[in-house]
Amino acid sequence: TYVVTDACIRCKYMDCVEVCPVDCFYEGENMLVINPNECIDCGVCEPECPAEAILPDTESGLEKWLEVNSKFSAEWPNITVKKDSPADADEWKGVEGKYENHFS
Ligand code: SF4
Ligand code: F3S
Repeated sequence: TYVVTDACIRCKYMDCVEVCPVDCFYEGENMLVINPNECIDCGVCEPECPAEAILPDTESGLEKWLEVNSKFSAEWPNITVKKDSPADADEWKGVEGKYENHFS
């Protein structure tokens, strides 16, 4: 599966939802997540994200993000259409420590 990582937090560009063939993105207040049970591993969302927030879970160190994606995709609503990104999205692009500061 692919997973959304902390680079999405407060950027939330939502280009990813437009390309997913199985509509498996779910929307939280500050970020999106992928439902790992629904993702078919096609990979088309990865290059679409301007924040480079989407990665295959085969990359090392992503266990925490797989857990976050699993947990919240079961709680948050499905999103299939891109909306307006946060006004300050570009200011949060590439900022480190976003999970620690805004999500826990
Ligand atoms: Fe959707 Fe494909 Fe991305 Fe999985 S890898 S979330 S199926 S676009
Ligand atoms: Fe987030 Fe990138 Fe999608 S910033 S909302 S994963 S396009």
